[in-house]
Amino acid sequence: MKIIKSISQMQKVSQALKGKKTIAVVPTMGFLHEGHLSLVKIAKKKAAVTIVTLFLNPMQFGPKEDFSTYPRDERADFKKLRALKVDYVFLPSLKKIYPEGFQTTVSVSHLTKPLCGRSRPGHFNGVTTVVNKLFNITQPDYVVFGMKDYQQLLTVKQMVKDLNMPIKVLSGKIIREKDGLAMSSRNANLNKDQRKMACSLHRGLKKVKRACAKKGCHINTMKKVFLSEIPKDSKVVVDYFECLDAKSLAPVKTHKKNSTLIAVAVFFGKTRLIDNMVV
Ligand code: PAF
Repeated sequence: MKIIKSISQMQKVSQALKGKKTIAVVPTMGFLHEGHLSLVKIAKKKAAVTIVTLFLNPMQFGPKEDFSTYPRDERADFKKLRALKVDYVFLPSLKKIYPEGFQTTVSVSHLTKPLCGRSRPGHFNGVTTVVNKLFNITQPDYVVFGMKDYQQLLTVKQMVKDLNMPIKVLSGKIIREKDGLAMSSRNANLNKDQRKMACSLHRGLKKVKRACAKKGCHINTMKKVFLSEIPKDSKVVVDYFECLDAKSLAPVKTHKKNSTLIAVAVFFGKTRLIDNMVV
């Protein structure tokens, strides 16, 4: 496994591979867990060469968000990626990605309006801008994104389509802990009590799915069902519970089998977790 820090070196490597070997890229912000590793496994199956990018992107964090406390452990990340026989790790510095005078952003308009787009203004512009840069640098044939960040996945797909990028966007399903909590680097910031309470997200989503077995379940019922599983604790704050069309992310009032996305974001203390389920 080769670790590359320089943008020009990474670009040279990808350009030399281009057309000869297929390249799959897994963009990450590091502090890797089994969710990320499942995406790496998808990449490895699909392409001859796998590149994992590790870059904690400040542009997708708001001024009051958790950029400074986002967990990091490069050494552990390298070990996990080496074990999977990843070919390249691209680890650019902040200054190289955003040099002085940087002023270009990429944005996707409609899909980024609801959910995290509403709660985290500017977040998706940060994501699409950095992902664009990473794609330009690594020249992928395939990129792999997780379904936990469902809105991010749809947004990247839309951007790739709209900008005619010759890239196939693959997705990996949500990987969960034994108690159902969706794996996330941010889980490391939960204390013991918060960690215990956090599995209520998945329990709530499953309960909504069961409630949807009845025809035409209304959003108010779904929300009530979900909230019944969320602990009544002053440190547990629901940011959003939304029912949307799973393709367009347009809001829906009543459930339609296998095409309604239930998306949730809940704060456990300062840690904001997201989860979702198509029901
Ligand atoms: O999903 C993430 O970890 C990030 O949003 C991504 C795609 C690596 C862009 O910084």
